[in-house]
Amino acid sequence: MKLCMIGTGYVGLVSGVCFSDLGNDVVCVDKDENKINKLKKGIIPIYEPGLEELVKKNFKNKRLKFSTDVNDSVKKSDIVFICVGTPTKKNGSEADLSQIYSVANEISKSINKFKIIITKSTVPVTTGDNIEKILSKNADKNKFSVVSNPEFLREGEAIRDFIYPDRIVVGSNDKRSMVILKNLYSPLISKGAKYISTNRRAAELIKYASNAFLATKITFINEIANLCEKTAIDVEDISIGIGLDKRIGSRFLRAGPAYGGSCFPKDTKAIVSTAKKFNTNLSIIKSVINSNSLRSKLLLKKVSNILNNKFKNKKICFLGVTFKANTDDMRDSSSLEMIPYLSKKGAKIKYYDPTGFKNDFNNLKNVDFSNSISDAVKGSDLVILHTEWNDFKSINFKKMRPSKNLKIYDMRNIFSPSKIKSQGFKYFGIGR
Ligand SMILES: NC(=O)c1ccc[n+]([C@@H]2O[C@H](COP(=O)([O-])OP(=O)(O)OC[C@H]3O[C@@H](n4cnc5c(N)ncnc54)[C@H](O)[C@@H]3O)[C@@H](O)[C@H]2O)c1
Repeated sequence: MKLCMIGTGYVGLVSGVCFSDLGNDVVCVDKDENKINKLKKGIIPIYEPGLEELVKKNFKNKRLKFSTDVNDSVKKSDIVFICVGTPTKKNGSEADLSQIYSVANEISKSINKFKIIITKSTVPVTTGDNIEKILSKNADKNKFSVVSNPEFLREGEAIRDFIYPDRIVVGSNDKRSMVILKNLYSPLISKGAKYISTNRRAAELIKYASNAFLATKITFINEIANLCEKTAIDVEDISIGIGLDKRIGSRFLRAGPAYGGSCFPKDTKAIVSTAKKFNTNLSIIKSVINSNSLRSKLLLKKVSNILNNKFKNKKICFLGVTFKANTDDMRDSSSLEMIPYLSKKGAKIKYYDPTGFKNDFNNLKNVDFSNSISDAVKGSDLVILHTEWNDFKSINFKKMRPSKNLKIYDMRNIFSPSKIKSQGFKYFGIGR
């Protein structure tokens, strides 16, 4: 099939490349010329394991193309995926759909034959109805179908998640597009992927309800961890003890910093806003948002206790600054709240991240990037393990010449407290 992905970010690029690898002709479009030029040269703009090889392979065999021309690309395609951003509105909490509607407007001018227009972006329930109205202004209603096919890939595992998804959700109000989409996904269905077809609004809501539920699970275990700290219990035992109950499940029960990233913070806020429009109070999700927004302050209070309230000139090392491992995504990472706070308090911060230097900390006083773990740890009074990269799991801190009284605040519980203690250092974890 001839596919067009509009928006070549984490979702558009990964799903475009994977669809081309399944044998489709795919053009990935973006308005960012720089990004498209880089991709044409084989330079991948994001960090995602396995992505580079797949891009190069499919670009070489000409099943994958890159373009900045939306109109031409839409005209040549049978299926158009909208994969642009849906961030939170400035000074608000609802989703900003301006990128979606602007793309819909552009597409409407290029409908020269029957096309399926799909939202892969996460969009609030009823957005598909609005896209349909926009398209109808310039195009004949019989020449298009608007479908919701939300994306569930996780950054860092995106390619695996595309090929072996827990489920594929397709929401459509017409049979013709249902048949075409089932055909498009048939290589994955034949490998065992569960395929759910439903109506368009339901598919839109499935995505938000999933993210809100996962955010709730993380926040739940984070609050239980707070109780564990007061009662001398290791939250890891609680996670195992409750996770083995099949009704609960063990995933997303790892206590740690506030959830971040490009999805949970914005999607929890957006679903609450959508519900408000429909006079519904999502009190549980509101409470999750509130709890999560206080989480970094709570962990910073513990940092203050660890340092006996003395921040001035304290050498603090951050290991990992992205919101989770295996991605370069800094969006809503809790390090963006913690590092500026500690810098303001007078601490001297060095950070190391396997995905390199981050512009986000450019203008902060006494915040420097180290290009190795050992350089970051050297001379430190406090190491904050912020992101759970495998690279950090077996560090021998003794060999890295930290301060004699090094303290380690393991915000992901990846170290063994007894091993750290046996190296002669003080260990602090989350909920243990
Ligand atoms: N990142 C994830 O892990 C993930 C997972 C599932 C769903 N989603 C959802 O998918 C959507 C996209 O997320 P992302 O992380 O890929 O975003 P992103 O910011 O990485 O990519 C969006 C791209 O769209 C491009 N764009 C914007 N307007 C355009 C236009 N008019 N024409 C062409 N290109 C345009 C931007 O230049 C950008 O490259 C969001 O709704 C997000 O919530 C993201």
